[in-house]
Amino acid sequence: MCGIVGYMGKQQAFPILIKGLQRLEYRGYDSAGVALVNENGDLNVYKTKGKVSDLENFCADKDITGTVGIAHTRWATHGEPSKRNAHPHYSQSKNIALIHNGIIENYLTIKKFLISKGYTFQSETDTEVLCQLIEYMMQEHNLTLYDAVYQALKQVTGAYSIGVIERNNPNTIITSKMSSPLVIGVGREEFLLGSDASAIIEFTKNVIYPKDGQVIRIERGKEIEICCLEDREQKIKPEIQQIQLSLEDIEKGGFDHFMLKEIFEQPKSLSLCMNGRLQREKKEIILNGIQEYGDVFAKARRIIISACGTSWHAGLIGKYLFEALCRIPVEVEVASEFRYRNPVIYPDDVFIAISQSGETADTLAAMELAKKQGAFIYGICNVVGSSVARLTDSGTYTHAGPEIGVASTKAFTTQVCVLVMMALSLAKQLKTIKDEDYHRIVTELCNIEAKIEKIFEKKDEIKEMSKIFTYARNFLYLGRGYNYPVAMEGALKLKEISYIHAEGYPAAEMKHGPIALIDEEMPIVVVAPHYHLYNKILSNVQEVKARKGRIIAIVTEGDTEIKKQTDYYIEIPKTEECLSPILSVIPLQLLSYYIAVAKGRDVDKPRNLAKSVTVE
Ligand code: M6R
Repeated sequence: MCGIVGYMGKQQAFPILIKGLQRLEYRGYDSAGVALVNENGDLNVYKTKGKVSDLENFCADKDITGTVGIAHTRWATHGEPSKRNAHPHYSQSKNIALIHNGIIENYLTIKKFLISKGYTFQSETDTEVLCQLIEYMMQEHNLTLYDAVYQALKQVTGAYSIGVIERNNPNTIITSKMSSPLVIGVGREEFLLGSDASAIIEFTKNVIYPKDGQVIRIERGKEIEICCLEDREQKIKPEIQQIQLSLEDIEKGGFDHFMLKEIFEQPKSLSLCMNGRLQREKKEIILNGIQEYGDVFAKARRIIISACGTSWHAGLIGKYLFEALCRIPVEVEVASEFRYRNPVIYPDDVFIAISQSGETADTLAAMELAKKQGAFIYGICNVVGSSVARLTDSGTYTHAGPEIGVASTKAFTTQVCVLVMMALSLAKQLKTIKDEDYHRIVTELCNIEAKIEKIFEKKDEIKEMSKIFTYARNFLYLGRGYNYPVAMEGALKLKEISYIHAEGYPAAEMKHGPIALIDEEMPIVVVAPHYHLYNKILSNVQEVKARKGRIIAIVTEGDTEIKKQTDYYIEIPKTEECLSPILSVIPLQLLSYYIAVAKGRDVDKPRNLAKSVTVE
């Protein structure tokens, strides 16, 4: 759950590495470091606790020359965030430097072995162990760096993407991956490494996506050499592909934060998500995954949806959709629980994994478990070619575009949109929806982007409102039906970027406990658009009001009843009930964003979090 970058070419490596790290900071930002081989063959490693900008300042008076280097931005797993635990790690002789994203699971056993051979360790990390093991292989067996990395990786279990360089060798970088992302950029007389394409896109669009278990030698002036851990003799021909991203896609474009940019991008990302799938003229949905595998869904005993965080909230909405529209029973599981619960999985289950990054370790493990037990695996994911995408039997990309802000926004609305398209298209095949209902909902889906734009007109109102609530230490979010998961999502957004404690609850469940929390200090966000449970949620609002809670209601335009009961309200346009989460979540995203900004929080890099949670 860290970001790695590497460079070898004609230019000075340092500024390129720093740029790459800045683009990868969403993956972790508790410490950062860089290693460079200068023209005298010195291997200089500089590290700091803190962000990439701290590293840049720290290096201001250092020797940062060199046309080959590796760099890292960290999210701590083994060992606290500190300078000594930051990467790159030196080997004992300081001849090798290594960066790593992932976890070496058997590092304690290897460490014990190396200690018995006289090695000492400077950090508490699993990574340093791998670096020392490579040196041990080189010294003990008289191997080249490439062969030593190969032999060391044969000994380790776990997940990794790594970059390794050595003193007196400004012409070589060795890299490899296993269950962690890695991309190699191939420019004109230069090579780059990155945890993802955003780190290198400024320099080249020609890339190689190495596969798990491949060990790669990048050598100045030579062809890239790839061999396999499974079979040293098997040589792989590098396959160069073109990155589809543009630089504009990954820059802030005038917004103060990526999160704000991504909130405002939602009409566009939803258009891209529906492009070629929603036939606006004919009012039809053609979704390849469902066209092709509709019969598998039709015969399914049930659907299991599994995911984490925001993607799990989208999955909860999926339950309402598939059950209401397709009449298929659905279970929704937090992936980290599912994977260790010894769940009952039938070969005629359809298992849907939802993940923005496609790299979330718990979601991947849940998928593997379901796959092993014979379920049909369907993926909903944003990052093309990610691990989730590769594990599936079929699936649908959300096409939300790169999401950099740690707090998910456009990922959520596009995931819900995919679930809506899946449920509608399946319901049509299964004939569990009347034609007029299908066409009415599809027609509404065609208007969804414009309706989000209307909510954006309220942004100043929401910003003003947010200032009133910065005092709060706790928030309660309530919703019912399709909008109960939206309440949970609103609470998660507030927690992660403002550090205000918040809980999302089914509105009617409040009286079974959380109602005790309500007093005149307590803000309660009620997601209450006008649908079939309107009168019920109105009663819940009255219950809160009677206890003097400060209500912020999300209501449908033209609402009269709930508005009368509430101190603050935000109107959203009317739409079909099953589409309402796509609209009702928008004011909640804006509210949490503006509260966090008013509290001076680092919105794009909230403390303790990372964008992709590639560890369990
Ligand atoms: O990449 P994924 O969708 O699998 O990520 C799952 C969660 O880690 C993610 O949604 C997380 O909860 C976000 N920070 C929420 O904003």
